Amino acid sequence: MPSGTSQSHDSAPLHVSGRAQYCDDIALPANALHAAFGLSRVAHGRVTSLDLAAVMESPGVAAIALPADIPGENNYGGAVHDDPIFADGLVQYAGQPLFAVAATSMRAARRAAQRAKIVIEPLPAILDIRAALAAESFVLPSHTMRRGDPRARLREAPRRLTTTVVIGGQDHFYLEGHIAVAVPQEDGAMLVHSSTQHPTEVQNIVAHALKEPANRIVVQCRRMGGGFGGKESQAALIAAAAAVLARKSGRPVKLRLDRDADMLMTGKRHDFIADCEAGFDDDGRLLALSVMLASRCGYSADLSGPVNDRAMFHVDNAYFLENVEITSHRCKTHTVSNTAFRGFGGPQGMMVIEALLDDIARTLGRDPLDIRRINLYGLGERNVTHYGQIVKGNLLPGIVDKLEHSSDYRRRREAVSRWNAAHPIIKRGLALTPVKFGISFTSTLFNQAGALLQVYTDGTVLLNHGGTEMGQGLHVKVAQVVATELGLPLSAIRITATDTSKVPNTSATAASSGSDLNGKAAQAAAVTIRQRLVDLACDTYGVAPRDVRFADGQVQIGEERQPFAALARAAHEARVPLSATGFYRTPDINWNKQTQSGVPFYYFAYGAAVAEVAVDTLTGESQLLRVDILHDVGRSLNPAIDLGQIEGGFLQGVGWLTSEELYWDGAGELRTHAPSTYKIPTARDWPAAARVELLPAAPNAVDSIYRSKAVGEPPLMLALSVFHAIRDACAACGPRGCLPHLPSPATPETVLRLIDA
Ligand code: MTE
Ligand code: HPA
Ligand code: MOS
Repeated sequence: MPSGTSQSHDSAPLHVSGRAQYCDDIALPANALHAAFGLSRVAHGRVTSLDLAAVMESPGVAAIALPADIPGENNYGGAVHDDPIFADGLVQYAGQPLFAVAATSMRAARRAAQRAKIVIEPLPAILDIRAALAAESFVLPSHTMRRGDPRARLREAPRRLTTTVVIGGQDHFYLEGHIAVAVPQEDGAMLVHSSTQHPTEVQNIVAHALKEPANRIVVQCRRMGGGFGGKESQAALIAAAAAVLARKSGRPVKLRLDRDADMLMTGKRHDFIADCEAGFDDDGRLLALSVMLASRCGYSADLSGPVNDRAMFHVDNAYFLENVEITSHRCKTHTVSNTAFRGFGGPQGMMVIEALLDDIARTLGRDPLDIRRINLYGLGERNVTHYGQIVKGNLLPGIVDKLEHSSDYRRRREAVSRWNAAHPIIKRGLALTPVKFGISFTSTLFNQAGALLQVYTDGTVLLNHGGTEMGQGLHVKVAQVVATELGLPLSAIRITATDTSKVPNTSATAASSGSDLNGKAAQAAAVTIRQRLVDLACDTYGVAPRDVRFADGQVQIGEERQPFAALARAAHEARVPLSATGFYRTPDINWNKQTQSGVPFYYFAYGAAVAEVAVDTLTGESQLLRVDILHDVGRSLNPAIDLGQIEGGFLQGVGWLTSEELYWDGAGELRTHAPSTYKIPTARDWPAAARVELLPAAPNAVDSIYRSKAVGEPPLMLALSVFHAIRDACAACGPRGCLPHLPSPATPETVLRLIDA
């Protein structure tokens, strides 16, 4: 059966040979134009003069777009309409687009954009979280989640500690930056090729900007060169600007951001600050917790509401919080509007509890693993989350046990202690951290998907669904599902570009739910077609439905055996339709934002990692020596792809927590906007010793597609083990029981500062 087996990514040969077509590779008509944005360099201010005469006169320039050139709404915000395509009078971050220009070449457009004479009268700018909290500057109302009586329990607790957890942001650094191509159609409609995780939202925003009905806008995406959440909402800005220029010029327009513009203009992972107070007993059991969680959202709401909600949902990570109060502030700052990024607030929430448990362990002079263990969600007791969802199918205790043994944690703990006693300069650290991640969009409505399946009379299949491919292997997984249902080899299924004219009203490919949702929708379509073929076979051969079986490209009908293609041809001759749609909505979930009650997640994905690091106390540099990972993907749809997601997600998390530092200067300009100053992990950062395993024999307890589990985001949070291993090494530099209050990212400078202190 194709499903459940390791199959390479459908585009792997194209990826490695450079033949995979990305938006930038689409052949353009001869009259096509190339566009560039003109950006503000001021964080907050009023535009007093915008002189574009030199831009217009620059060689090759064909059109300029300003707010007045937008026929419809000057907005690309999906939920809250507070995101202008072009700033109109008021600029709210350095990097905000003021206009766009289209010219005969990319270089001509970029050169022209530089020639604008922009005068901005500065206004006071709020640049960071503390400043926003002090000014009560928020993009959305604050929220509190409470369970039990945290205040009273904190007062009574035998032990207490307070701490502040500082969590950095992260640039997506997808290899392919943002890009869109808008091609005017004969009747004034618009075809848009967009590198987007959310073609439907791009369609709607382009429609609103152009003041056209949705049925006149078609958005296609064959693949992205990475999205990581960065193309969930903000791809719409690039597509809308390209469409406005295409409408104005009457010519196709390609708008591709270079790396600097991409990093300056588009949102990142939210950085957070958490002020916490924890009450606990002498065994290290948490009794009460109070957390003030604040994030830098930037100038607009974008996805900050659900990101911060997910952070609140994940403050528990894997632990039972009996008495807890979490207040979440969504800070408005004059910086780029932060957005979705793999984990979507979850990683930041989990950083808080992991730091607290680590502090508690060190306060008590215990191994942090022991403290993590006694606070884990239980089986049948201590198993209700702070938002009231029961943790069913809890795999945490089993995973932690297994990994503790397979990684040889206890013996290595002793070895690390011995090493540290003997070595004054290179210190080692070890940490095991678990992951529990809720699967489903927390807005229930997004948990739906559609598919369109077409069978041709030669027995080949064309598959389309609402999900987008960003390298995660969604398309091959969904094709495996269809091949399995129709008993066909994987090679008989062709995957095509995601297209709003084939499957309408789709959700973003996000929340790790791409294969859960689209796999089920495609399965439904395949089952519909298969049922029609079974009915035909029964009629024709007088057999019972159970005597018709599809396997290996053949159909067994009673004693008869024929190729699938023969039955498809017979169906056509009998005038049986060979195309079908499929639809899926996740059952059993409901979350009421107003009353803060219900079941937001269909299930949880689990995992754990053990990391060992070496820290050079003279330079602050750290090296990941070894990692052991045990991760739950249910019954894997494709073990090879899943392992790739785990390894990639983990290393992306390591980058977030150790090397990727975003630096804004005092005027609010981002100074780290290229790989020269912003360091993502490379192949050399992969540890010499890595043992990555899928948790065996763990079918999902709920009816997900073939009992698999989502894998896209959860592994990123396995990287918390590396951060805590570095903390552990830092702790070894100080007196016994010292609390290594390490902010993230744990760059060499940060580590050195902490050790010196
Ligand atoms: N893997 C690759 N190679 N590229 C990506 O952009 N995005 C991640 C994850 N894995 C991403 C990736 C994010 S943020 C999500 S939500 C999921 O993939 C989305 O895809 P899925 O739902 O099909 O897993
Ligand atoms: N995760 C990812 N993306 C989203 C979500 C979510 O929970 N909600 C809206 N967009
Ligand atoms: Mo992923 S952050 O949900 O696109």
